Amino acid sequence: MSRRSRRQFDARPVENSTLIYIQKFLSEFSPYPETRAVLVNQATDEIFKGAIGNLGKIKGAPAFIAFVGNIDDPNIQEKVGYLGEGVILEATASNLATCWVGGFFRPEIASLLAGAGKKERVLAVTPIGYTREGLSFEEKIMAGFGRNHQRKPLAELVSGLEETNWPGGVKKALEAARLAPSAVNRQPWRFEVQADNITVAVDNLNDSYNISKRLDCGIAMLHIEVAALDSMMKGQWEFLEPPEVARFIFTEGFEPGARLDAPR
Ligand SMILES: Cc1cc2nc3c(=O)[nH]c(=O)nc-3n(C[C@H](O)[C@H](O)[C@H](O)COP(=O)(O)O)c2cc1C
Repeated sequence: MSRRSRRQFDARPVENSTLIYIQKFLSEFSPYPETRAVLVNQATDEIFKGAIGNLGKIKGAPAFIAFVGNIDDPNIQEKVGYLGEGVILEATASNLATCWVGGFFRPEIASLLAGAGKKERVLAVTPIGYTREGLSFEEKIMAGFGRNHQRKPLAELVSGLEETNWPGGVKKALEAARLAPSAVNRQPWRFEVQADNITVAVDNLNDSYNISKRLDCGIAMLHIEVAALDSMMKGQWEFLEPPEVARFIFTEGFEPGARLDAPR
């Protein structure tokens, strides 16, 4: 499955069966009780802002999903990233176009429409709907004519065990994490591989555009876990203090002994 951020929609409403499916998914996919995703089936151009004037503004989406979190939770950013990316990938699989929007939207309006409580904040939203086949000229500008889609090679992102000693499944998990979307494509995640775990950390503590890098890391966490599952590998996340974000400790489906004992 491939996904790209889309910013210009044709006004066609989301098909009823798809709305029902997504609504059901939102009620079932609840990885953390401090987070929730709310579907607002309403044309909502006014919640989006342009990057420069109206340029880059999300246009024509018939509906959006708000990613909401309890701001008292110290790990809320990564938890919302994880939840939101699960939702975005599911929407993509349902043939909907999406775009994570963490900066250029109006949180007051989004909160109102999503019915956010006192302790809750809408950390990001995604428009959902249908688009034309190719990118529009404006979308091409926003995508930096492809630049904003390029990803860093794993060699720049990973430390810890030599690749030859990685447990099976780790390479695929990290390749999936590398391809995750991030705000302004900054790819702030760094990974450390050990015999029975992968640690996700941010490159530094300087957030930009008022969007937490921990949110991006939550997105990468979801990619790691989904790809690991695809290799029949399961694990559990443990949250960590900054600059680290979380550690995925493998619990099933990995063979650390086989690799660690391998002749050097
Ligand atoms: C947390 C987050 C916030 C984002 N905020 C915005 C935004 O405010 N406006 C926008 O046009 N794109 C936004 N994006 C989309 C990114 O620019 C885009 O994901 C990135 O350039 C990679 O491109 P791709 O999604 O097509 O792979 C955001 C992405 C993430 C993950």
